Amino acid sequence: MNSKRAMAQLLKHLQSAGLTHVPKVELPKNRPPAGPAASKGMVAEKSSGGESSSTDRRSISKPRPASAVAEIRRPSDLLGTDDLQLDGVRKPEQLASVQGILQQSPKSRADREQALCALKDIVAGCKRCTELSSRRTQTVFGVGNPEARIMFIGEAPGADEDAQGEPFVGAAGQLLNKIIGAMTLKREDLYICNILRCRPPGNRNPLPQETANCREFLDAQIKVIQPEYIVCWGTVAAQNLLNETAAVGKMRQKFYEYAGAKVVCTYHPSYLLRNPSAKKQVWDDMKFFMKELGVDLQ
Ligand code: URA
Repeated sequence: MNSKRAMAQLLKHLQSAGLTHVPKVELPKNRPPAGPAASKGMVAEKSSGGESSSTDRRSISKPRPASAVAEIRRPSDLLGTDDLQLDGVRKPEQLASVQGILQQSPKSRADREQALCALKDIVAGCKRCTELSSRRTQTVFGVGNPEARIMFIGEAPGADEDAQGEPFVGAAGQLLNKIIGAMTLKREDLYICNILRCRPPGNRNPLPQETANCREFLDAQIKVIQPEYIVCWGTVAAQNLLNETAAVGKMRQKFYEYAGAKVVCTYHPSYLLRNPSAKKQVWDDMKFFMKELGVDLQ
């Protein structure tokens, strides 16, 4: 991501986090590359695939444009800068317990089930996000087939999910179930989870630090399940998984790649509840996706 886009993204994040007054800032002009990272051409725009996660790419240290952020005080200002990404989000230290589970490379159904169970227990005790962990009824880890070919990723639990401990069980989930049926699939064929495992208060958008905190768990679930396909439901899922800044409307009808899976993006079922006319576009996206699996939907 270039520094101008990153700066625009940071300002957007700050505003969505409730910052009402953002000082007028000079966005950096296109500057000549500086520093060792730039000279090695390390600023990649898009996933080139494989296991190199977007988190890895985002953690590449780049010179921070001095003019834009100097006066904005963030919690991360109190932390060391080694693990800061350009947008001021701190990448949490990996948990040895999670990495230990992944090192066992579970392959059989039983081993994958066991690995997911162990990860679920770790997530249940997570307190990385103070606000979310203190307000949740429970964590919402993910459900479904541990050998699923297709993984669905949503945004974050809502009130119903927080109460029941399962993703997509509320109104958006009911609509998602209808879409799954129309795709000639069953919920049990899939693995369903979210970018976040805790409900943000009032269903606000996840904060960048929260998505960074939860990323290790999402990546672990993807590594255990090793889906062939991932469907990102909504902008939050699409942008976070793929480290993109485009709105989901611009990411539809193409395949991306993440961790060995082909990824498609479409509108979130909650968006469809508010904008029923977008159902046609989602259905087009599902036809596009299922065709790749050899299923022609009418
Ligand atoms: N919306 C989501 O993105 N995920 C859920 O689990 C429920 C609603």
